[in-house]
Amino acid sequence: MSSNGSSSRATGLRPWGREDLGRFARDYFSDRRIIVVSNREPYVHQWVGGRVECLPPASGMAAAIGPILRAAGGTWVAHGSGSADRRTVDRNDHVAVPPDNPSYVLRRVWLTKEQEAGYYYGLSNEGLWPLCHVAFTRPVFRQEDWRRYREVNEVFARAVLEETGGERSLVFIQDYHLALLPRLLKERDPNLLVAQFWHIPWPNREVFRVFPWSEELLDGLLGNDLIGFHLRYHCQNFLETLDQGLECRVDQERSEAVRGGKATAVRCFPISIDFESQSTEAASPAVTGEMDRWRRELGLSGGEVVGIGLDRLDYTKGIPEKLKAVDRFLEQNPSYVGRMVFVQVVVPSRSRIPTYNALSEEVTRLAEEVNWRWSTDSWRPVALLRNYEGSVRMMALHRLADFCLVTPLHDGMNLVAKEFVASRFDEDGVLILSNFAGSARDLEEALLVNPFSVEETAGAILKALDMLPEERRKRMQRLRETVSYRNVYWWAGKVLRSLAAREIPAQVERWETTLP
Ligand code: G6P
Repeated sequence: MSSNGSSSRATGLRPWGREDLGRFARDYFSDRRIIVVSNREPYVHQWVGGRVECLPPASGMAAAIGPILRAAGGTWVAHGSGSADRRTVDRNDHVAVPPDNPSYVLRRVWLTKEQEAGYYYGLSNEGLWPLCHVAFTRPVFRQEDWRRYREVNEVFARAVLEETGGERSLVFIQDYHLALLPRLLKERDPNLLVAQFWHIPWPNREVFRVFPWSEELLDGLLGNDLIGFHLRYHCQNFLETLDQGLECRVDQERSEAVRGGKATAVRCFPISIDFESQSTEAASPAVTGEMDRWRRELGLSGGEVVGIGLDRLDYTKGIPEKLKAVDRFLEQNPSYVGRMVFVQVVVPSRSRIPTYNALSEEVTRLAEEVNWRWSTDSWRPVALLRNYEGSVRMMALHRLADFCLVTPLHDGMNLVAKEFVASRFDEDGVLILSNFAGSARDLEEALLVNPFSVEETAGAILKALDMLPEERRKRMQRLRETVSYRNVYWWAGKVLRSLAAREIPAQVERWETTLP
């Protein structure tokens, strides 16, 4: 039984919502501007057939941070990557978002092709991404990429300082693209309160040792007043990396590092979703309508069992392993031939990087192989879809599923698991979850598997399909209880409270009693 949701329930507290977070932010940070910074922007304007469309990106980070700015207001500084982004900003490079109900400002930062190639594709995604995920893809470190990475962190620093305009501000930085930014900001304005959340794992110190510019990167991160990771394990890895790789004093007891007389707190905050709104939306007639459309499109007549997987096309997500597990499942359970459909949605990602292209080909080939092996005149076991078609379509797919496979080889959190749980207001459906996803620590009632073992995943599919309705319901109820308490407002509340506690410890205690 998950300790998290149940202990919150035991205290009699209700889950935090958007209003609680908004009140908290106004109470403690009323004298500070709130600035969020990330590489990926929350809304991308694209030219589509002569028209401008505004779409959210496929990014767990962007999905999680959006509700916070909607609750607290402020400015989000991010790379303007859409083909129509320049067309939609004002002369300060600002655009109000969300488009249907503007509640904060998006400030776009422009990068040259060379900067994007070196900083984003190169250092961030061919260097730091594989370094931090233990998925056995070798990181690539190029001097030129590092040069661009430094240059772009500087570009972001200038943009942030333009937004703060010298006023008291809280700057909340996201992820591994901007590790040098905290130091750059603090050097220029020591009055800024700076925090960063590292949305991906932090590897152990032996792995991190291969990073060629570790001293400068770690020093950059210690410009933060607070740095957050999803798991305690990642915090420990980070503190040990600092202990070995940088001149600073690491205090394990207080979970902080002190460099040049200045302390950086290192804390864990498992990120989450807006459970309430996703659960409500999943029950809407629009989603129910899309379920019918899926049934038609997939040719379902009612007697089939349906499995789903929704992933960005990334080698950390274990997509080939899933397809192999489906193949093994059919081999071991011939009674399901002709009546199990596995729908795998893959959203193309970082496609300029060769390993991503190779993965795309491998996934296509594997899906074709499984279909070739098992298909009949009227049935194919795998439907491989290459488009993200928006949240309503995805929720409809969640609701159709008898089981959902979230089986990354390594992942900081993987919010898809929590999204599946939020969609299942009917308290049905089985979540099969990788032990190596951060969300496995929160979602103990899922069927946990080692995704490297095709047998184990195939066995879990059978277990999911054999599970009695009463057990499915109990597990899903508990999962939903956990995510409803440990939602994204709870997450942001914990981050902000840790920051506020550094400035005004006594007052913060008042809020302690309301945050589950
Ligand atoms: C991960 C990272 C995010 C990133 C997302 C999508 O979740 O933690 O920072 O936005 O992947 O990747 P992309 O490269 O498309 O932004």
